[in-house]
Amino acid sequence: MKNILFASSEVVPFIKTGGLADVVGSLPKCFDKSQYDIRVIMPKYECMAQKWKDMMKYVTHFYMGFNGEDRYVGVLETEYDGVHFYFIDNESYFSGPKPYIDWHWDIEKFMFFDRAVLSALPVIGFRPDLIHCHDWQTGLIPVYLNDSFQGGEFFRGIKTVMTIHNLKFQGNDNSLVFQRISGLSNYYMTYDKLLMGPDGNMLKGGLVYADAITTVSDSYAEEIKTPFYGEGLDGLMRARAHDLRGIVNGIDYVDFNPETDGNIPVQYNASNAIPKKLDNKRALQHELGLGTGDNRFMIGIVSRLTDQKGFDLISYMMEKLCQRDIQLVVLGTGEQKYEDMFRWFAGKYPEKVSANIYYSEAMSHKIYASCDAFLMPSLFEPCGLSQLMSLRYGTLPIVRETGGLKDTVEPYNQFTDTGTGFSFTHYNAHDMYNTVMFAHSVYVNDRAAWNRMVERAMKKDFSWQASAEKYRQMYDWLIG
Ligand code: ADP
Ligand code: GLC
Repeated sequence: MKNILFASSEVVPFIKTGGLADVVGSLPKCFDKSQYDIRVIMPKYECMAQKWKDMMKYVTHFYMGFNGEDRYVGVLETEYDGVHFYFIDNESYFSGPKPYIDWHWDIEKFMFFDRAVLSALPVIGFRPDLIHCHDWQTGLIPVYLNDSFQGGEFFRGIKTVMTIHNLKFQGNDNSLVFQRISGLSNYYMTYDKLLMGPDGNMLKGGLVYADAITTVSDSYAEEIKTPFYGEGLDGLMRARAHDLRGIVNGIDYVDFNPETDGNIPVQYNASNAIPKKLDNKRALQHELGLGTGDNRFMIGIVSRLTDQKGFDLISYMMEKLCQRDIQLVVLGTGEQKYEDMFRWFAGKYPEKVSANIYYSEAMSHKIYASCDAFLMPSLFEPCGLSQLMSLRYGTLPIVRETGGLKDTVEPYNQFTDTGTGFSFTHYNAHDMYNTVMFAHSVYVNDRAAWNRMVERAMKKDFSWQASAEKYRQMYDWLIG
């Protein structure tokens, strides 16, 4: 039996702010349980829904020296969907209305988490052969493992993998503060280790000390070796190129299944998608108070409203888009300027624009099921799950060719009648607009070709099967 521990700051169904939670919530289910004991460890946040907290059982607690004090570390556990979950409890670190609150505080919080994860292992009696760390929040696990946890027999030989879901966020802070809180010695605060400019950097620590590095698509694995996408770490990515590989994300084909989805008014599959999607579209137009009309080209957006996702391009073209016979259904929260922008256009064009500035799993499913197209013109996109969900629901993605969007959406070719969506290369508002208009013209003028594309999109396989096999091979290779 091979023991593997996933460490992550967010995991579906317990807490989610983005795709990281989807990935860590769904990947562990995809391994053969007779050979792999995959468990997951995460913080127990005060803001988790009560029903999840009620499921957790107390395992143990102890006190751990951290940032000058003895701190309480509680450990809870539960079993969900066949996976064993551990939760690290500390009411002062994991309080508040959201998992991420304030930059400096978050850094201290996740340094505490990383140390607590390793400290808890001997106490709970689970010795992983490998710890799979996700994003900057878990970046100090490989570092601490190399440092103060090397003494005893228990930790010797534990391997680590660092997966980059988003290189933009690194968990960096002034090196003096960083060193004081983390408790790491001067040895680690050099430019070939955790130092970057004037800061200590948690993700960099993970990337230097992990045995292997992965990221969530092949294209992003290449892109992050270049200065444009490398966020200052492209040199390190090039230096560790032999240990870095891209493994594209999948989605949970049970949670995201239009045939059984209880969140949508009318269920469907690839053979009856065209009429049934239309029923869903009518229901959504009605629910959101949009103008009615079966042939209105309905475009969905479900996203964090941040620069990463290309909202400056959309803002720039919004007025022009609203002059056309389209409808735009937006679901998202994020930067104030984008929230306000969508609200403003929804006020000006209530028949055409619906601005849903909140978080709702159910509404996201309705949008994936009801819209004709899905817009995601990202500046960068490590993988992207929303376009995979759209494909699964026969909603054709319109994307910029970057990272995972490039790897998962095949652009429509009218001559060969191939493709599952639409894409453009340069990060340019007019190129985006022209691509939306090209999609619109296919929808209006060649509905048969559009419908064939819907069927092709739904028949693509973006379940975890192939990618989980790649992770399995990597684990085997590392553990030996
Ligand atoms: P990222 O992780 O960069 O935010 P992904 O495309 O990988 O982007 O994943 C985003 C996930 O978050 C998807 O599951 C998407 O449906 C979901 N999501 C984003 N915003 C919302 C929202 N406002 N309501 C519901 N789900 C959302
Ligand atoms: C990050 C990325 C997104 C990716 C997700 C899960 O949030 O922005 O592209 O799909 O992680 O790996």
